[in-house]
Amino acid sequence: MNFKPFLLDQWLQEHAGAEFDLGSSTGPRWTVRELLALTGDAGRAADALLNLRVHYPPTAGAPALREAIAAMQGVQPEDVAVFAGGGEALFHLFYAAAEPGANVIIPYPCYPAHEVLPEALGLEVRRYHLRRENGYAVALDEVQRLADRNTKLLLVNSPHNPTGATISDGEMQALHDFAAARGIQFVSDEVFHPIYHGRAAQSAARLPQATVVGDLSKALSLGGLRLGWIVERVAARRRAYLNSREFVTVSNTPMGEYLGEIAIRHHEQVLARTRAVTHANLKLLEEVMAQSAAVLDWVRPAGGMTAWVRLTSGGDARAFCQDALHYGLLLAPGEGWGFADHFRIGFGVGPDWYPRAMERFAALVHDHARDARVNA
Ligand SMILES: Cc1ncc(COP(=O)(O)O)c(C=O)c1O
Repeated sequence: MNFKPFLLDQWLQEHAGAEFDLGSSTGPRWTVRELLALTGDAGRAADALLNLRVHYPPTAGAPALREAIAAMQGVQPEDVAVFAGGGEALFHLFYAAAEPGANVIIPYPCYPAHEVLPEALGLEVRRYHLRRENGYAVALDEVQRLADRNTKLLLVNSPHNPTGATISDGEMQALHDFAAARGIQFVSDEVFHPIYHGRAAQSAARLPQATVVGDLSKALSLGGLRLGWIVERVAARRRAYLNSREFVTVSNTPMGEYLGEIAIRHHEQVLARTRAVTHANLKLLEEVMAQSAAVLDWVRPAGGMTAWVRLTSGGDARAFCQDALHYGLLLAPGEGWGFADHFRIGFGVGPDWYPRAMERFAALVHDHARDARVNA
């Protein structure tokens, strides 16, 4: 079993010192103090944190945390299993699906772990294409053609990383119904739900045969808590995920679970910050993109906090991202997703510095357009 190099994370870590980090897919920052203040009695909440017993929580997560997640997702607490981030949740999902000869269907492009984990586990990976000319919509007929009797799992990701495309409720229902009718596990990775920049969508947790992956890292912007979950109504699958978890991370930490529960119980306040920052930043990014058509092209993201941008020249986005570093900007080159002429730019971070970062971005694009004219 071999993992491919995680090119994206390697690039981001190599250039972590850049003045403006637009490379990652995260949202605005929170402190522990701010989380405790959400309770309305920060002193009492801090005392409770200090008095926690530092022991292993249950593998599926503390009952109070599972209840809070279940209430937010509109499901039963026993259907929720907690993991160390959406990343760990995905590992156990694919691990449970990994049988000799089995295949899984995933989007292209995709969050790298959606492809690398099943490949490393010996699963055959089949990709449906999210096409720019189609607004990155999922084509149900393509998914149908890819499926056969060895298909174990169909994965969708909405809002999607990196494109920011979203799947409507009707489309989600149709994909779910197709998978359910064929006995294929339907997995919806919703870590960017419910951050929308236009038409909103419901969680797939409402669909009876959906497995849903959520986390605290993306929409809720609390990646340092390392908390994610799976909503799974099939008890045998839940047992399989938790059994493999027993051999890996065993459980989360009581401190993380305590803070995570506060965030979930006050999720509307936490999400309000993500929404305020992403909406303001996206407006600024849109202004630069509107003036950059000679150099850059995109489909405006409908959700999440990343945009997927193409060099209209079809040129080398890694060189463009290298150049961006001279302007203090960290962007994520598309080669990590297999797209040499694309890059990803985040708009969930830096409410205080994003306007300055957009001035630099506009200057970078302007200089590129000028150089392109000179070299023409
Ligand atoms: C679509 C998607 N799913 C899952 C994850 C995993 O994140 P975490 O492990 O922090 O929950 C990410 C992280 O970028 C992601 O983009």
